[in-house]
Amino acid sequence: MQETGKRIAIIGASGKLGRYMVAHALERGYEVVAVCRPKSVAKLDAFKDAITIVPGRTDDRAAIRKAVSDCDAVLTVLVPWGVHGYATNTAQAVLDFAPEKARLIFSCGWHISRDGKDVYPLGLRLLVPLVSVVGRLLRLVDIRDQENATRRIFESGRRWTVVRGSDLEEGESEGLPVWSRHVGDPILASNRTRRIDFALFMVTAIEDESLVQEAPAIVSCKSQSAMAAKGAAALTR
Ligand SMILES: NC(=O)c1ccc[n+]([C@@H]2O[C@H](COP(=O)([O-])OP(=O)(O)OC[C@H]3O[C@@H](n4cnc5c(N)ncnc54)[C@H](OP(=O)(O)O)[C@@H]3O)[C@@H](O)[C@H]2O)c1
Repeated sequence: MQETGKRIAIIGASGKLGRYMVAHALERGYEVVAVCRPKSVAKLDAFKDAITIVPGRTDDRAAIRKAVSDCDAVLTVLVPWGVHGYATNTAQAVLDFAPEKARLIFSCGWHISRDGKDVYPLGLRLLVPLVSVVGRLLRLVDIRDQENATRRIFESGRRWTVVRGSDLEEGESEGLPVWSRHVGDPILASNRTRRIDFALFMVTAIEDESLVQEAPAIVSCKSQSAMAAKGAAALTR
């Protein structure tokens, strides 16, 4: 593996998506600084000799400041845990402390809409308000927090990409997911992506200038809807 000379931070590195991102990033020769909750540091044991770990919650401004300084890119797992603005404070810390020219790539789900033009399947239209109400009542998650976080990112003027994941599944890589600006586009209809490939999309976005200030909704390139769209495009050529 050829070293790129580029340093990247992965915020929320110990989760499932985070660990896949660490693996992809190391494979591509990036120097990796990982932030994860102190109690989760052991989840990064497999990588501990290859990365720098900064223990800290992702909304810990001091930890984020330390991790992102001098980074060329920051990959952030945005999760709306609790009811005290965890995702918003995480995003704000990254926006405040990442170097001006850094690529900033954030994860979230299809339910986030940049321009209100997404057309959601019935299941998601029912699920999001339900999770929103029940999550807040139980003080476990706050979907509005992830919405606030992404609004700040969209308005930031920074070199951001907000990657909107479909339903996730485990399994071997199927390749780089395909994407569309809007949920409701037939290419996304299958609504499934391997988590390992969600991570691949996040890491690949570092070098993809066409994704700057985009909020791609992604789907597996091997899903039925992606294959059908590819077939239709080939027929019209
Ligand atoms: N799950 C899905 O089906 C799905 C679908 C579409 C998009 N997404 C997006 O994908 C990203 C990753 O989600 P994931 O579901 O796959 O989970 P994940 O990768 O396992 O990540 C969960 C993260 O939340 C942290 N966490 C867990 N409990 C916490 C708590 N009480 N307080 C603070 N942090 C806590 C974990 O840290 P520790 O390692 O310290 O526990 C980890 O960093 C998210 O941005 C999500 O919006 C998920």
